[in-house]
Amino acid sequence: MASPSQTSIPATTRTVTISYSDLQDKSMDLSEKIEEGFGPSGLGILSVTDVPGYSTLRRNLLLLSPRLANLPKEVKMELEDPHSRYNFGWSHGKEKLESGKLDMLKGSFYANPILDTPTTDAYLIERYPSYCGSNIWPDAALPELEIAFKALGQLMHDVGLMLAHHCDRYVSRVMKMDEDEGLENILCRSRCPKGRLLYYFPTEQSKDNISMSSWCGWHTDHGSLTGLTCGMFMRDAVEVPCPDSAAGLYVRTRTDQIVKVVYGEDEIAYQIGETTEILSSGYLCATPHCVRAPRGQEASRLERSTFALFMQPDCRLLHSNAIPSLPNQPPAPRSSGEEVAFSSDTISLEKKTDWALRPVFALHRDSARLYNIIDLIYLLDKPRVKPITEDPTCEKNRYMILSESVQNSDLSDIPNDKLEELRGLCEIDVVPYTLTLGYSYWGAGHIAHLNIHDELLPFKDVIAKVIYDKNYPRIKTIVNKVGTISNEFRVPKFEVLAGENDMVTEVKQYRLTFKLDYGLVYWNSRLEHEHARLVSQFQAGQIICDMFAGIGPFAIPAAQKECIVFANDLNPDSIRYLKINAEVNKVDDYVCPYNTDARKFIAQMMTVPEEIELNHISPLKSSEQQKETVINQESESECSKVTVEVKELQNGAEGKFESVEGSGKTVDASVVAVKRPSDDCQEGNGSLCSTNTSLAGTGKGKGNKNKRLRGSKVVGVKTWEHVDHVIMNLPASALQFLDAFRGIIQKKYWKGDLPWIHCYCFIRANETQEYIISEAEAALGSSIQDPIFHRVRDVAPNKSMFCLSFRLPESCLV
Ligand SMILES: C[S@@+](CC[C@H](N)C(=O)[O-])C[C@H]1O[C@@H](n2cnc3c(N)ncnc32)[C@H](O)[C@@H]1O
Repeated sequence: MASPSQTSIPATTRTVTISYSDLQDKSMDLSEKIEEGFGPSGLGILSVTDVPGYSTLRRNLLLLSPRLANLPKEVKMELEDPHSRYNFGWSHGKEKLESGKLDMLKGSFYANPILDTPTTDAYLIERYPSYCGSNIWPDAALPELEIAFKALGQLMHDVGLMLAHHCDRYVSRVMKMDEDEGLENILCRSRCPKGRLLYYFPTEQSKDNISMSSWCGWHTDHGSLTGLTCGMFMRDAVEVPCPDSAAGLYVRTRTDQIVKVVYGEDEIAYQIGETTEILSSGYLCATPHCVRAPRGQEASRLERSTFALFMQPDCRLLHSNAIPSLPNQPPAPRSSGEEVAFSSDTISLEKKTDWALRPVFALHRDSARLYNIIDLIYLLDKPRVKPITEDPTCEKNRYMILSESVQNSDLSDIPNDKLEELRGLCEIDVVPYTLTLGYSYWGAGHIAHLNIHDELLPFKDVIAKVIYDKNYPRIKTIVNKVGTISNEFRVPKFEVLAGENDMVTEVKQYRLTFKLDYGLVYWNSRLEHEHARLVSQFQAGQIICDMFAGIGPFAIPAAQKECIVFANDLNPDSIRYLKINAEVNKVDDYVCPYNTDARKFIAQMMTVPEEIELNHISPLKSSEQQKETVINQESESECSKVTVEVKELQNGAEGKFESVEGSGKTVDASVVAVKRPSDDCQEGNGSLCSTNTSLAGTGKGKGNKNKRLRGSKVVGVKTWEHVDHVIMNLPASALQFLDAFRGIIQKKYWKGDLPWIHCYCFIRANETQEYIISEAEAALGSSIQDPIFHRVRDVAPNKSMFCLSFRLPESCLV
């Protein structure tokens, strides 16, 4: 896709046109034209010519736009409606540009051209103020506005309904459709279409390098059908032609070309919105578009007026489950085709700043009351987005994210009595809050991962296509999880809904690269902070055992910190990628991968090699005998396959061992005796002991000229003597694996402190931390001192993931 900021002038394309007389004829089959304009290969825009009376009505209204915008400030303020989030009446400087700055370039006047008061239902008005509010007209200051606005809006609405009729006819040719579900019916029933009169203020200076989306950012419309007039340019209240042929409407085509789209002044253009794309299963397509401002000397002091009519389903339908919320768009389409800011990394769910309440103390005793007072109307209500969330500045606090209807940080949108009650209960702060959902939270690398609920499955292909169209090339594969995860490797089954069938991808975390096959191994980007948090507790030189390592999100950053990491996973594909990732990140010297069951792995880590046991009894055993015993050790470790290198290392480091080349046997590096770090270790001082460990084994800094070894830092590390941390991230059953620690550590060999165990688990709403401790103690057969719980994340409304950290009890030693 071409960069939206490129300055060269792309190709210009004329819209497909349909004449008003053809459109009026309900018996005429216009399917081909509809397909050409709105179909999967069309531009997503077409225009209607020869609409009787249209040109005059357009002119009448657009000429009023500068007069409205130049009314005195106090008069315009009277026309503002904060309660509807400025979705009725006058709005200026309330919306944001793509850059995130407030949009001072244009002012808008919003009104429903069909119904001044679409409903008297107090609940609906309170609940959906941006749809169900009432019109505000400048009766005294500009009385002509109401007449001109309604006349043009109603005409465009009527023509839009005619067009909707032909759209339904086209769609019904290709898919089964209930009459009730048709676009025409949905729009006829809707009480909340919205007109927007736009005025672009004259700019003093026009920069020549302004981006393609300088006037209106890239977006697709959220509603059903948007009617557009051609813009009118003026200078000093006199109409002038557009001075820059590159200015105007741009769309991104289905083949990823950016083209400038033109249509005549006397034509009404219509665009398809995402709601229609979804309800028509993708036969009618929405198109990403933007508007470019004119450039050059001629553009200075230029004003522009234009009008758009947003035809959208009734607010109840908009907010019901019938229309799915896509992960990268505001779940509820807004009433007025505002520009949704979207960048390449994250999609801002809200154009305007939301506010969050911050009760200034932890999990308030009266939190239920707090919740009742603030009540649902004032809390954010988006599917699958929880309004109560973590406070990033304080672990003990929570944010209560307020609804979009709360516009002002002084909370003046909330009735006084409620506010007083709230303040009586606790001290509160109001902080700005931007809700963003990046795809990093929905997949990995170029893969977007959806969990489409049963009721939305009929829409799955079109949902995927909308996401794909909006995010390509960043997102190239859209997958949907099928069924529940039943395998022990914790890998879901996926179906590819859109894009290429390529599950091998790359993810960046803490500036490290992780390669993985999303269809074969466990990966969860939402654990990034947890991986970083835990690894931050490790020191260089410490020995880490990761019992359920996956592709290495704990192991690789720990190794990068120069910890010695023994990383195990039962899934052979995880271990394959763990090794790749260790190499890619150049930490393979520090990582020793194992592919076995976690119980067997930890037992192997703690088992004192037979020859050492024998030596302990009979220290006079010959070195030949010792070597033979070592060679015969069985191991699942990849570091064991270093036969020749071990020999080289041994010679280089100590010069004691003879070659085992040609023996046809492999050596388990974890039990090969070389320079023993703990030989230098002071009894009882674990950290000093393990720091020494990291320096041992490779001859680094000791003039070792041997070639670099895979896993060379781990060679000679005696895990049965000392381990600093054990990671157990298999939350569904890690607690049950704690029995693996019973009686495996031998007191007489152990040096320093016992290891920290970091055991992940789920805690359900009806369970307590005490219960979890009792489970852990029962498995260990020992009591745990000073356990630490860290809440990782909420995985379901009644279930959270925790990390339980504790030092392995002394009573586990034998
Ligand atoms: C929740 S994942 C955690 C992976 C990684 N630590 C992470 O944070 O992304 C659990 C891992 O445990 C592995 N696993 C499941 N049962 C196992 C077992 N009995 N022994 C060893 N690994 C096991 C799975 O293959 C999976 O990779």
